[in-house]
Amino acid sequence: MNRFVVKSVMRGLINGRSYCSGGSISGGHAYRSAIVGRSLQLSGQHNGVTFGGFEWRRMMSSAPASVEKATSEREEKTEKSAAEETKGKEVVTSSYWGISRPKVTREDGTDWPWNCFMPWETYRSDLSIDLKKHHKPKNFMDKFAYRTVKILRIPTDIFFQRRYGCRAVMLETVAAVPGMVGGMLLHLKSLRKFQQSGGWIKALLEEAENERMHLMTMIELVQPKWYERLLVLTVQGVFFNAFFVLYLLSPKLAHRIVGYLEEEAIHSYTEYLKDIESGRIENVPAPSIAIDYWRLPKDATLKDVITVIRADEAHHRDVNHFASDIHFQGKELREAPAPLGYH
Ligand SMILES: [Fe+2]
Ligand SMILES: [Fe+2]
Repeated sequence: MNRFVVKSVMRGLINGRSYCSGGSISGGHAYRSAIVGRSLQLSGQHNGVTFGGFEWRRMMSSAPASVEKATSEREEKTEKSAAEETKGKEVVTSSYWGISRPKVTREDGTDWPWNCFMPWETYRSDLSIDLKKHHKPKNFMDKFAYRTVKILRIPTDIFFQRRYGCRAVMLETVAAVPGMVGGMLLHLKSLRKFQQSGGWIKALLEEAENERMHLMTMIELVQPKWYERLLVLTVQGVFFNAFFVLYLLSPKLAHRIVGYLEEEAIHSYTEYLKDIESGRIENVPAPSIAIDYWRLPKDATLKDVITVIRADEAHHRDVNHFASDIHFQGKELREAPAPLGYH
């Protein structure tokens, strides 16, 4: 058993890429299930996006012809790499259980390439959010949370310096943990106490998913080295368990720490943007996963992607400081309306 775990970890470190997502539909497994997909009728409205029948339409691009050409080349490459991924692999046949992914297409008739998120989970980022908002530490717990985050930043600064791509990957592997832990613990509490959660389970899980999409985007741009992968494994092992215990003991402190972590994330992405603007980091085309997830124009670039990710972090900052404030008022989260779809 232990040998199996060690082997799996080593294989993961050596082979690299994770199975979900991939702007290039890198997940061979996921693609297989898509190509055997049985069409299902879907209709309705999610997140302000109307979808009906088998298709969902993204806004038409007003990009110039050259950009359209570059985009179509990129899409061609995406399809080609997806085909290569599935080549020679066993195709899952129609099952007795009748489970298959509905066929979804874009407005232009092309297949929706992602299995890890659907069109109705996509959104346009609210870039008007105040990036400078800061929760002033008022009491001992706030100050403890603030100092903890500031101290945690020191080794990160030393290790990554201005390698903001790698830094972002590391940051996102950590940032996607608290929402999942908080959501899971609230879920268990709801079961134990026969109480509704007020929507907070969903809100925190949405945050975790949003953070994971940041990671899935960043991993399209940056390939971490083996020792960075090892660092991610170690940090996740420590951070997940530490945050789990912390959330059990004091959700108020846990949310405050996350609020400050998000403030640091805004700072890191601002520095990242400065390096893109100065030309130190090349402003490459946005990965296709990002274009679909944030409904960006087809000619979007890395700068656009980092800008929307930074706006997401500002929303997470607000949610977590808000959650902590609710606890500080001696109330439970379920007593305040959960910020669903707030990112
Ligand atoms: Fe993030
Ligand atoms: Fe965040």
